Amino acid sequence: MSDIVLSLENVGRVFEQGSQPLEILKNVNLQIKAGEVVALLGQSGAGKSTLLQIAGLLEPPSSGKVIVNSVDCTGSSDRKRTEMRRDEIGFVYQFHHLLPEFSALENVMMPNLISGISRKQAQEKATILLDMMGLSHRVTHRPAKLSGGEQQRVAIARALANDPSLLLADEPTGNLDEQTSDLVFENFVSSLKSRNVAALVATHNTELAARMDRIVQVRDHQLIQ
Ligand SMILES: Nc1ncnc2c1ncn2[C@@H]1O[C@H](COP(=O)(O)OP(=O)(O)O)[C@@H](O)[C@H]1O
Ligand SMILES: [Mg+2]
Repeated sequence: MSDIVLSLENVGRVFEQGSQPLEILKNVNLQIKAGEVVALLGQSGAGKSTLLQIAGLLEPPSSGKVIVNSVDCTGSSDRKRTEMRRDEIGFVYQFHHLLPEFSALENVMMPNLISGISRKQAQEKATILLDMMGLSHRVTHRPAKLSGGEQQRVAIARALANDPSLLLADEPTGNLDEQTSDLVFENFVSSLKSRNVAALVATHNTELAARMDRIVQVRDHQLIQ
């Protein structure tokens, strides 16, 4: 089996806005292997989030192909895409989107409970992930009782709960101060590496980008590598 986890082939995205179609991405080609952490740079409005949504099977491209673990998902049904997302893909957003009425542990257990894994097993997995993120002492806290950096680490643990082969992150430390961002980023990358996850990480921060395996950049609707 090929170790290429994500492959985008000639991906284009056009938004039909009023009478004028708005071309955001044009002929984007990208391959990411297992264990490779790729930084996605680009100015605000360049199309980073659009690209992540396409790679994460949340939106179809207007043209081109999206292939995840050798499965061409371009024409897949909604059901198949949802299944692929649940089994193969993790997402981390700039704002954590944790469920406020649940503890850190329960938030991380949630994807596995939804997948139908037993409560005991889900709890074991979540405990290991929170431990890896340095949060063993925070498992019973609700999100509101955690700092911004801790909340974001819980969100990362949750994104890894289903053992995804592909992790997509949209400015995962964009909401944190510099020092916290640095720490969370270190934790984030080492957790990806230890699990051999392929990752595409949008960021504004060129210093963090330089610490990833390679950098790609959206500019003038194209992906520069
Ligand atoms: N659903 C949509 N309909 C129309 N235009 C959109 C839509 N989503 C994003 N855009 C536009 O596409 C461009 C790229 O957006 P985005 O991918 O969010 O950029 P980035 O994440 O790099 O800041 C922006 O000009 C944005 O306004
Ligand atoms: Mg964005």
